[in-house]
Amino acid sequence: MDIHALLKEMSLEEKLAQMSQFLASMLSVDIEAEITGPNASMRLTGADIASTGSCLGGKTLAADVIKLQDKHLSEDPHKIPLLFMRDVIHGYRTIYPIPLGMGATWDEDLVTACCRMAAVESAVSGVQVTFSPMVDLVRDCRWGRNMESTGEDPWLNGRIGAAMVRGYQGEDLKDKHSIAACVKHFAAYGAVEAGRDYNTTDISEHSLREYYLPAYKAAIDADVRMVMTSFNALNGTPAAANKWLVTHILRDEWGFDGVVISDWSAFTEMITHGFAEDRKQAAEYAINAGNDIEMMSSCYLHNLAALIDEGRIGIEQVDAAVLRILQLKDDLGMFEDPYGGASSEEEAKYCLCDEHRALARTAAARSAVLLKNEGVLPFSRTAKRLALIGPFADCGMIGSWACNGTAEEAVSIAAGMKRALPDAEITVLQGCSADLAALPDEVLEAEAVRAAKVADHVLLCLGESATMSGEGNSRADVSLPEAQKQLIRRVVAANPNTAVVLFNGRPLALGDIIGEIPALFTAWHPGTEGGNAIADLVLGDVNFEGHLTMSFPYHVGQAPLYYNRMNTGRPKPSEESTQGYCSRYIDCPNRPLFPFGYGLSYTSFAFGKPTLDRTTMARGETLKASVTVKNTGMVAGSTPVQLYIRDCVASLVRPIRELKDYERVFLAPGEEKQVSFAVTEEMLAFHTADGSYRAEPGRFTLWLASDAESGDPITFEYSRERL
Ligand code: GLC
Repeated sequence: MDIHALLKEMSLEEKLAQMSQFLASMLSVDIEAEITGPNASMRLTGADIASTGSCLGGKTLAADVIKLQDKHLSEDPHKIPLLFMRDVIHGYRTIYPIPLGMGATWDEDLVTACCRMAAVESAVSGVQVTFSPMVDLVRDCRWGRNMESTGEDPWLNGRIGAAMVRGYQGEDLKDKHSIAACVKHFAAYGAVEAGRDYNTTDISEHSLREYYLPAYKAAIDADVRMVMTSFNALNGTPAAANKWLVTHILRDEWGFDGVVISDWSAFTEMITHGFAEDRKQAAEYAINAGNDIEMMSSCYLHNLAALIDEGRIGIEQVDAAVLRILQLKDDLGMFEDPYGGASSEEEAKYCLCDEHRALARTAAARSAVLLKNEGVLPFSRTAKRLALIGPFADCGMIGSWACNGTAEEAVSIAAGMKRALPDAEITVLQGCSADLAALPDEVLEAEAVRAAKVADHVLLCLGESATMSGEGNSRADVSLPEAQKQLIRRVVAANPNTAVVLFNGRPLALGDIIGEIPALFTAWHPGTEGGNAIADLVLGDVNFEGHLTMSFPYHVGQAPLYYNRMNTGRPKPSEESTQGYCSRYIDCPNRPLFPFGYGLSYTSFAFGKPTLDRTTMARGETLKASVTVKNTGMVAGSTPVQLYIRDCVASLVRPIRELKDYERVFLAPGEEKQVSFAVTEEMLAFHTADGSYRAEPGRFTLWLASDAESGDPITFEYSRERL
């Protein structure tokens, strides 16, 4: 399609409509009839609706999309196809684990495969763009949208975000099963103060560039086609109005030439922020910052023409935005085929198909993280009596942002265990309410204790429901509800052969209960095949491989908590130290309960001391770091060997450790393997005090470890001069 020629034919009203996005349901109306409901409240006209460029949301099916596209093409003056967008965050209909769980797989190929599956199901259902990956750096367990991120490490978030983009977009955006990806929320939405959603963010440029921006850049480098600006005010300017962010960084520095879309009604929120006087000023700020599409508000539609007439903005700004939107539609092949992969037959063939369920089951098993195990897991396959107790024992756990997936289509733990042990007597009891504020229920507890007493094994199914995390669901207290803690105490007292599986959309503070739990793992919100995956794990058919990408605290008071922290001038000498006048809490450890990178297995691994092929590294050189890892247990297992580096002295203080690479190893019992990494200058580079991005000469420490707190250190020298 000659989009420049098409642009020349379009009226200004049509151009502004391309820059607007509304709900699919709002566009399904008869444009000749009286405009009512949300369309009226946004003062949309029939012409606005006829020419709108894209729509979002709604549990639309392929047939709905085809019907709406036909309607749109019959009404749009230039028959410019409508673009359909959805939040396909961790699956479309077949739901795999929430991204905080997918990050814990430390397996980018698996992430790509799951996102490809989501793309296929989305495309055949009529979706052409997903508002994913979300790569916001998270450090505060209170924030509800931790579940949507992949954790506290900038580099790993970038790697996983790029893997997601590859899955969604495939090799060719015109492929019937590819969809365009949209990286979000630009930028630093995960840094909301106090972990309270939509709150303000105040971050130095150094910290932005060093920690908060790299993952978005990694998605851009992976050719993501869209960027969504975020709700938060960043250093006093709402992100959608932040020209330094959206034009200077994103477009000028990074060369992003794709589409920028706002978050839901974020332009009008500039008024609420106290930044824009009215919608007209919000529209002016937004287009000057560099936003192309306005989601679910009509500032552009109703004000850009006047702003052009008043000379406050130029028509060339509108044209540039519309061209980027038309380019995306052209790149998706929509002018040749406006329905993309939409097909009811294909939808029925792919959505929830056995192959997709099998992949979701693998992902659910690989994302689970074993946190503690005092010989309780795995359960015996010859067990005659099992008790599954807890508010989440008998329901599908698909988490927040589950798109067209449903809990009813998901496999519960009860169903999974009954499938796995058809001859066992399996008792399923609620044990306590799921509600956060729930108090212990004597009747429920008593029946749980009775069942536990006679069971060979007990699995307590606890944690958070899907609505306790996700957007707008921050928590000030991230410990388990009292009812759940009391149930743990009473059931473990009745039968010490008890394990706890947690469903959670964030790190939980378990310091006040961990001592009373014999075995514990998190399944996050595992998705459609959660129950089968948990049965596979609990019975030892599958070994645990997951490792945390976000630190779990003892207490919420430690937030924000993250491994790549600074040393301070008065670090606590050790966790056991009682020394005063150092950076410590007098009532809580400094360290996390479970650190970044941590995860247990049914086997055990021994890490040797790291070795280097040299102790000095000059500019342009690489250094080889190696470690021998041995499976010292009785079953095969896999673990990600993690490479951490510390810049010991630099022109700005540097973190005590930073993840720079990892390699997952698979080892049979007794097998050992040497794992080597090339240490590069890029790994040593950072945004230095003079603003340049480079490696500074000096001493570095390196670890090859199984988590952010383990491993033996080894030091090397980097010199900018050739030695
Ligand atoms: C929401 C979210 C964003 C999502 C958008 C569309 O408010 O912040 O992540 O993509 O609206 O649903």
